[in-house]
Amino acid sequence: MDTIKYNILVVDNEEAIRHSIARVLQKTGYDVHEARNGRQALDILTGGDFALVISDKNMPHMDGIELLQEVKKEHPIIEFIMITGHGSIEDAVKAMRMGAYDFITKPFKKDELLHLTGKALERYQLTIENRRLRRQLQTIQSDRYNFIGHSEAARHIKNLITRIAPTPSNVLITGGSGTGKEVIARLIHSHSDRADRSFVAINCGAISDNLIESELFGHVRGSFTGAIRDKEGIFTVAGDGTLFLDEISTIPVNLQVKLLRVLEEHEVQPVGATKSFPVKARIIAATNRDLRQEIAAGRFREDLYFRLNVIEIDVPPLTERSDDIPLLVTWFIKKMNRELNKNVQGASAEVLHILQSYNWPGNVRELENVIERAMIFCDDELLKVEQLPAFFTDQNKEPLGLKAAIHFFERKHILSVLRITKGDKKEAARLLKVGVSSLYRKMAELGIDDTLIGNGE
Ligand SMILES: Nc1ncnc2c1ncn2[C@@H]1O[C@H](COP(=O)(O)OP(=O)(O)OP(=O)(O)O)[C@@H](O)[C@H]1O
Ligand SMILES: [Mg+2]
Repeated sequence: MDTIKYNILVVDNEEAIRHSIARVLQKTGYDVHEARNGRQALDILTGGDFALVISDKNMPHMDGIELLQEVKKEHPIIEFIMITGHGSIEDAVKAMRMGAYDFITKPFKKDELLHLTGKALERYQLTIENRRLRRQLQTIQSDRYNFIGHSEAARHIKNLITRIAPTPSNVLITGGSGTGKEVIARLIHSHSDRADRSFVAINCGAISDNLIESELFGHVRGSFTGAIRDKEGIFTVAGDGTLFLDEISTIPVNLQVKLLRVLEEHEVQPVGATKSFPVKARIIAATNRDLRQEIAAGRFREDLYFRLNVIEIDVPPLTERSDDIPLLVTWFIKKMNRELNKNVQGASAEVLHILQSYNWPGNVRELENVIERAMIFCDDELLKVEQLPAFFTDQNKEPLGLKAAIHFFERKHILSVLRITKGDKKEAARLLKVGVSSLYRKMAELGIDDTLIGNGE
């Protein structure tokens, strides 16, 4: 507690009182500033990092109550102690209601002031601490869903996510299985102004045809056999959050018509109901089928396709962005270290190039599984070829593609130079005859970070 220096602002138009309060606090070790009136107080607060305001209630022009109101508006975390006149209990109550930490009645003793100050600062500290934790949690949570990648395709997708997140437009995400469609949907939600609302996902492919209608739209009791009570549909559950309709192509054609109507009218009518409910959720749909082909085959309605597809994000298969593989590997190793309580520092260059030349039918999900499996078998600091499933090594009899070979060599060479310079990037950049920032860029691209430098690969 003593190591933190708190800034306190004392506000009173009566100089003698102000000085004496300031002196008491200064002697205790606080940093104390003084203001003659409310205006000056607000100016001082804007310029500094204050924890507490102690202000008299009775001041000309702007009184303590008005000042409190302004302080809470501009700097809600700053604590406030009101000094009230003897017998003015009403002011005290009012101040407390408006968010003051406490009040102190004139005349007061030094100890009383110090005690109250200490308490108010404790609360301030708690608020700061809670904020820090919340922020930390937010980064951990956003960590959970992160679209990792440096390739042009990945950068394009990240750019799209930030651009479209703040809009209410419907989004259609297409791409093969395990390419990251759900990750993208969740990121759009968490970057939008609905982030604090719910994200509700429904996998249309996993629900039988006879249940999907009431899952989507809800039903009222008695509307069909088995409808023993009212049921809210997913559109209502999502409220004004985000509704993620996964595997949209599996919705039966007759329900596609109803879905289209819901999207057009922003209203949903549960099965058997006479009245409709407003739909406020933002709709993100995903599919791993080619909807144009589905339309041609008569399995998907074109009008629904256009309604959903206001913005389309097409996620390319992992093989088309194999540049992202080293980075994804590093990311999954870090993630799995936490989950499996391991301390793996990276993957060997050989592992990386095998992974970069594989054709990944299951895309990023498959890569994630391979890394997880390898880590379970890894008692070392480095993932080695032995820990990859056998077919990787059997399959990899073919020579590397040129691009993968160049990456393989670049990575190996940069790592060896970094080891010579003991991790000194400036020196390494000089030896490699590139700029320091290009070196950093290359390192990121090739999945090299400091943790790898100490290891003999
Ligand atoms: N770019 C990425 N960065 C980090 N993790 C990713 C990335 N893409 C996918 N993943 C991870 O891969 C796994 C599969 O991703 P996701 O569930 O989003 O795929 P999907 O496209 O919805 O797959 P499916 O079509 O099978 O439902 C998840 O564990 C996800 O965290
Ligand atoms: Mg999915």
